[in-house]
Amino acid sequence: MSEPNAVQRFPLRHPRGQTEIAAGEGAFDTLLPELAKWVEGRHLFLLSCPRVRSLHGASLDPLRRCAARVTELETLDGEAAKTLACAGELWSAMAAAGGKRDSRLLAFGGGSVGDLGGFVAGSFLRGIEFAQAPTTLLAQVDAAIGGKTGIDLPEGKNLVGLFHHPAFVVAESAWLRTLPVEELRGGLAEAIKMAALLDSGLFSLLERDLEWLLAGDGQRLGPVAAAAARAKVRVVEIDPEERAERKLLNFGHTLGHAIETASGHGSLRHGDAVAWGMRFAMLLARREGWAADLAPRLDGLLDRLAPGRPRAISPEAVLAALRRDKKARERGLGWVLPRRLGEGCWDVAVPAEVIDALVPRFLAFAAGERGSLDL
Ligand code: GLY
Repeated sequence: MSEPNAVQRFPLRHPRGQTEIAAGEGAFDTLLPELAKWVEGRHLFLLSCPRVRSLHGASLDPLRRCAARVTELETLDGEAAKTLACAGELWSAMAAAGGKRDSRLLAFGGGSVGDLGGFVAGSFLRGIEFAQAPTTLLAQVDAAIGGKTGIDLPEGKNLVGLFHHPAFVVAESAWLRTLPVEELRGGLAEAIKMAALLDSGLFSLLERDLEWLLAGDGQRLGPVAAAAARAKVRVVEIDPEERAERKLLNFGHTLGHAIETASGHGSLRHGDAVAWGMRFAMLLARREGWAADLAPRLDGLLDRLAPGRPRAISPEAVLAALRRDKKARERGLGWVLPRRLGEGCWDVAVPAEVIDALVPRFLAFAAGERGSLDL
């Protein structure tokens, strides 16, 4: 692990080029000369949401001064932004402002702003270049990296989208200082996901420092964000379009997305849902006789993380959402399960009757209505 606060730079090579990534305290200043060239002589669309713009909007002034023209775009805070209606408003605003194929879009905000911004950039005029300036830990370790963009439908999360890689990811640690603890928790859940299946060293670091990280210790958050981002980059470079290894990054997301959908998007945080999803996947792994080394450590870490509980969620609604999961194939849903610390498998078939029997009991445990996970 590098010095606390040191900016780490690394590229992500993908089939259409390369994303330049910088993470740590000072990441924005580090990338500013390249960002300045990227927007020079061009129309820059700067997409953000009210909360982020009011807290950190001024930090982008040096970049605003470099573009030929800047149009500020605003969308809703949080997951509520990821709708067709919001995307439509942005496409119209960009067309009305005279956006061209060489215009640039910078998505400045959390994962939702990034997902929506990338989707709008990837489809406007059949695709303009964009960059991600993620301001949440969750977006810095996961959502902003790897080119997945999209919006939600009432039927489920991220059901419409495209792969469109950003030219830059600016993971500036200074922007994390204003994050509430629930946001840090969500980002740490994704970092735990990455560590459990891809990086045992990062897992040990999270075990050592979790309480400091939850307290927003800037010295520790930057290196953790960089390590998790690097782990993700390694996987995405091997499998950019999620045909194989990249599926590992869906650890915890199969049940997690279903819980989010069943609870109505926005009422349970994504990271919390993923944390519960990982515990459920762990149960399935134990059924296979796998991950005996990881099980107690992951359960212990997730207990300390203390994710928000999914309450009053109908098991039928969760099971229905699982059946509609966009990752399902005609032959059924493939689960991502850990085999041991630092190693996982994807496309694991689990009989539907096993899932149907486990989900109601697991939801009772997650809601705090049942004390043990001995199902
Ligand atoms: N968030 C999972 C992925 O980017 O593949």
